[in-house]
Amino acid sequence: MKRIFIIAAALLALSVAKADEGMWLLSRLKQQNIEKMQQMGFKLTAEDIYDINKPGIKDAIVGLGNEGRPFRHFCSGEIISPNGLLLTNHHCGFGAIQAHSSVEHDYLRDGFWAYKMEDELANPGTTASILERMEDVTDRVNAVLDDKMNETERKAAIERISAEIIKENTKGTKLSGQVQAMFEGNQFFLFLYTIYKDVRLVGAPPQSMGKFGGDTDNWMWPRHTADFSMFRIYTAPDGSPAEYSKDNVPLKPKHFLPVSIKGVKDGDFAMIMGFPGTTDRYCTSFGLENTMDVTNTIRHKVRTDKLAIMREGMEKDQKTRIQYASKYASCANYWKYSNEQNKALRNLNTMGNKQAIEREFTAWVNADPARKAMYGNVLSDIEQAYKGLKEFSVAETYAQEALAGPESHLFAYQAGHGIELLGKAETSDKEKEAIKAQLDEMAKAFYKDFNADVDAKLFAVLFKVYSDNVSEELHPEVITLINKKYKGDYNKYAAELKAKSVFMSEEAFAAFLAKPDMKKLAKDPVYQAGKSFYDVYLKLSAMTKTIREQIKRGNRLFVRGLMAMNPDKAWAPNANSTIRLTYGKVGSYKPRDAVFYDYYTTLAGVLEKEGPAGGEFEVPARLKELYAKKEFGPYGKDVLHVNFITDNDITGGNSGSGVINAEGHLIGTAFDGNSEAMSGDIDFEENLQRCINLDTRYMLWIVDVFAGAKNLINEMTIIK
Ligand code: ARG
Repeated sequence: MKRIFIIAAALLALSVAKADEGMWLLSRLKQQNIEKMQQMGFKLTAEDIYDINKPGIKDAIVGLGNEGRPFRHFCSGEIISPNGLLLTNHHCGFGAIQAHSSVEHDYLRDGFWAYKMEDELANPGTTASILERMEDVTDRVNAVLDDKMNETERKAAIERISAEIIKENTKGTKLSGQVQAMFEGNQFFLFLYTIYKDVRLVGAPPQSMGKFGGDTDNWMWPRHTADFSMFRIYTAPDGSPAEYSKDNVPLKPKHFLPVSIKGVKDGDFAMIMGFPGTTDRYCTSFGLENTMDVTNTIRHKVRTDKLAIMREGMEKDQKTRIQYASKYASCANYWKYSNEQNKALRNLNTMGNKQAIEREFTAWVNADPARKAMYGNVLSDIEQAYKGLKEFSVAETYAQEALAGPESHLFAYQAGHGIELLGKAETSDKEKEAIKAQLDEMAKAFYKDFNADVDAKLFAVLFKVYSDNVSEELHPEVITLINKKYKGDYNKYAAELKAKSVFMSEEAFAAFLAKPDMKKLAKDPVYQAGKSFYDVYLKLSAMTKTIREQIKRGNRLFVRGLMAMNPDKAWAPNANSTIRLTYGKVGSYKPRDAVFYDYYTTLAGVLEKEGPAGGEFEVPARLKELYAKKEFGPYGKDVLHVNFITDNDITGGNSGSGVINAEGHLIGTAFDGNSEAMSGDIDFEENLQRCINLDTRYMLWIVDVFAGAKNLINEMTIIK
């Protein structure tokens, strides 16, 4: 009787145990989180995850980036074999899969599998970072700062000391270092990564499976998507990072994740490690208003037009469909997000929550004269600054979304610098050769995915959108010109630009480069559009510099105050593309009144959702055959689990992150969040926020049974 009572009480405690908000710093797990994680079922130690003296789970966690900005991790991944095999999302590999696709080899449509290592495809420019170690360097940075500095001085001082710290820590090593501000500039951490530069595509299911449900299902649960692709990291023969070379060898990782096919149950412990991009949890009500009324609203509106234009082009022919597939998908992703986030923010009264925090803060400040001196003006300063920002922020968002909607003028502007050098007498012949080679390469990459009709249409529609919505003083020259010389006829402008510019086709550009003419360049309408776009962009950032600094300073003090107000709370910093861990559990949820969502989906649901060929819900014939025969291999008996949800705290950038169980084994790959809680990047909703994951059993079934890539299965450690 008593035992039953205890069990019931424990169950009750379990069911009311709330999700733990926080994207935690690995070096503080021991101090902040491990006890709670172990209470929730985690069987390993903090040192098994991260330790400066020995390898751990963190050595299997990868941040994917691009050369030039390797620390801006666009996605995450995890190593699942002793040969550097990397698992990430299909939507993370999408750009690479698309880049290797053509009408003849359509890997988006058909999928791609390397059955031998020789067949793996190189992706120059893609980087893979693995954390070596991290360190709190707050004291060293703060030692060179004081509260009297203005923001410009402060920024310069931080840059100087960061460079020094990085230099000391990377000298004589092959590591890359980064100092990142945390808690809105109140703390600083050094991250040292090994950054690998030879990352090859190994496998991807057809888009009909990897992106099953398309934009309709994006950001939604219940989900049935095989959102994964596989890559492999290569190194120089001595194991050090190196650019692509045929002599490179597969990475021998310090750790890789065994893959579990034991399955997940409601309430199971789950943790996720990866590289979340941006959250704004300490955002004030004033910042929130800007996000809702300006950023989200404008972005959604402009992208609706942009997507329609791209779609129209893509429906016309197969080539354009492949060319614009990746651009379309990334545009659509945050188009939907912006709208769903605004809905969730309203439904969940996030504004009210923010205002309540601010009232509490104000009361705390007013209770003490020293606090009043320090924080008394913080909120009113932020409020003022946002009032001043509004008009500019509208223009900036329209500039980003509409003026930077077409692409040829951005390419022209980038290429323009090199072209101008070609025209200068001081440039030597040898330099000219090098510049030409570089321009050829840029052009090859740009025109591969360019359609002049689509781009001209984007000019016609989106430039007009800017003109219609932004006050005249903030118009770039090109808009003024169209409104005057073309009497506002944007179609006419676009048609002329398409006919006259040397940037509107690969051939015209090549002919121009063969005989570059500076007068012609200066008069080129696409080049002019690019220049005037950058001019207005620079003008806007100069105009908003002071206001933005005021906001930055206000936010820093606000967060400092909040932390001082609650010194015993375990605080987690906002996401900023650095490696983090979130822990929680597998679990169902109630999205709305009277609706219950189970925590997993199965292959039956894929068939239930099936739609017409070529559409978002197409189901490949082979999948249907295997389903009819229930050929699930060791991955399922009567049912095959497809996706599941956990209450982990993740955001964009975490895509592709491994979901790890209590034993440290991989049970899934995170790929999305649920629309009902899309306010989560600003205010975590503990009962509602869910992380949507691909079940390892569906992933392995596709690799093994569907694609027959036994070579990949054989290199993994599978836990049955
Ligand atoms: N919402 C996902 C993310 O931001 C991307 C999902 C891609 N899938 C899609 N159908 N567009 O990580």
